[in-house]
Amino acid sequence: MTYPIRPIDESEWPAFGRVLEEAFGWTPHPQQSERWKTETEFDRTLAAFDGDDIAGVTSVLSLTMTVPGGQLPVAGVTSVSVLPSHRRRGVLSALMRRQLNDVHERGECVAALYASESLIYGRYGYGRAAGELSFKIDKHASAFVPGAPADPALRLKVVKPADVRAELEKLFASIVTHRPGRYERKPHNWTGILADEEYDQHGAGPLRAILAEDDGGVRGYALFRIKSNWDAHGLADNQVRLNELEATDPAAYALLWRSLLDRDLATTVTAGSRPVDDPLIALLADPRRLRAGWQDELYVRLVEVDRALTSRAYSAPVDVVIEVEDDVCPWNARRWRLTADLSGAECKPVEEEPDMTVPVSALGSAYMGDGTLMERLQAGLIGEHTAGAVRALATAMSWSPKPWGGLVF
Ligand SMILES: CC(C)(COP(=O)(O)OP(=O)(O)OC[C@H]1O[C@@H](n2cnc3c(N)ncnc32)[C@H](O)[C@@H]1OP(=O)(O)O)[C@@H](O)C(=O)NCCC(=O)NCCS
Repeated sequence: MTYPIRPIDESEWPAFGRVLEEAFGWTPHPQQSERWKTETEFDRTLAAFDGDDIAGVTSVLSLTMTVPGGQLPVAGVTSVSVLPSHRRRGVLSALMRRQLNDVHERGECVAALYASESLIYGRYGYGRAAGELSFKIDKHASAFVPGAPADPALRLKVVKPADVRAELEKLFASIVTHRPGRYERKPHNWTGILADEEYDQHGAGPLRAILAEDDGGVRGYALFRIKSNWDAHGLADNQVRLNELEATDPAAYALLWRSLLDRDLATTVTAGSRPVDDPLIALLADPRRLRAGWQDELYVRLVEVDRALTSRAYSAPVDVVIEVEDDVCPWNARRWRLTADLSGAECKPVEEEPDMTVPVSALGSAYMGDGTLMERLQAGLIGEHTAGAVRALATAMSWSPKPWGGLVF
């Protein structure tokens, strides 16, 4: 059975939204729904129809994302859902193929997404490109190593988040290129981040903000909530729940963390999503006490391998012939010679014998600099035909800092 696919117009929004609500078992608050509608680019939606009814949906957000060495227009895939009555009939596969063709025609060479489950998107050529850590830190075990940075010019300022929106936006814009995976935020992103409705609070009270600043202006901020509690013995047991902490420099970063970790009446600080190379790991004298948990984060798909590979920077010179396997975007499936050094990269179609055979999902995984190619070689998922070629490519593609999006889209 086939399901005709086309973008929706605004009048079809309720039916589009309903598919997501049913598939996710999610009942959005009317304000959440309104925000979601505001961010939707209707010409980039896709719906699969069963007669007059929508059976499956997806859409794309036009993002400007940081990649190693620069920024790139990236198709941010979102709102992927199929009605429970229509699951496992190929609706998602049809939507994904159509979407990748549309993205290709539009000229974006990279697509990215957050997956509800790790299992779903590998078959469409997406690879796990970033991970994230969650932390649960006991205040009494949170001392920093000797030599942690401190700047006497810095001071903390307690503020109401909504009052400093412009400062937060400005600071974030100044650091967005510092890490691959981060993307430029639009006004609706900030409306969502700062929305402080009760359903967002999960029993932890209003959103709070603290700034690190000097006479020149804001150098960092933390957004967090506090779940207030007193135990049966009358001892304070507050939990600080960090949403977001950004800083322009190490001293502001360290000061903001200290202000959370040293907070009076609190016993723990939790953070749901932090980069895998969060500098806090180096700052803590006893990093095991972070009680870190790992999870996959951003997934990346090279829609046009050659343009994608020449749109990022490389950490070391490399010259390899890569045979790319790609069933979904056949224009990628051929041999490419990638020649890169610290000044730039070239990627040309060639007929020569390949140094390696690589599924396009593995290139997507490596694209943001996570350094995963060697782990895939060791797992037997990449065919190496010239000894050392994968290591050379892995070294060239790895990047520091490690990729992390930090905000689900
Ligand atoms: C995930 C979802 C979109 C899949 O839609 P679908 O139309 O059932 O998928 P398809 O029928 O096209 O499946 C294609 C293939 O993916 C597999 N697959 C799909 N969803 C999967 C899942 N969640 N876990 C494992 N495999 C999955 C199918 O088994 C099928 O495999 P095959 O080609 O080997 O037969 C749908 O189950 C859904 O809406 N889930 C709830 C919401 C959600 O998680 N959305 C994703 C947001 S990122």
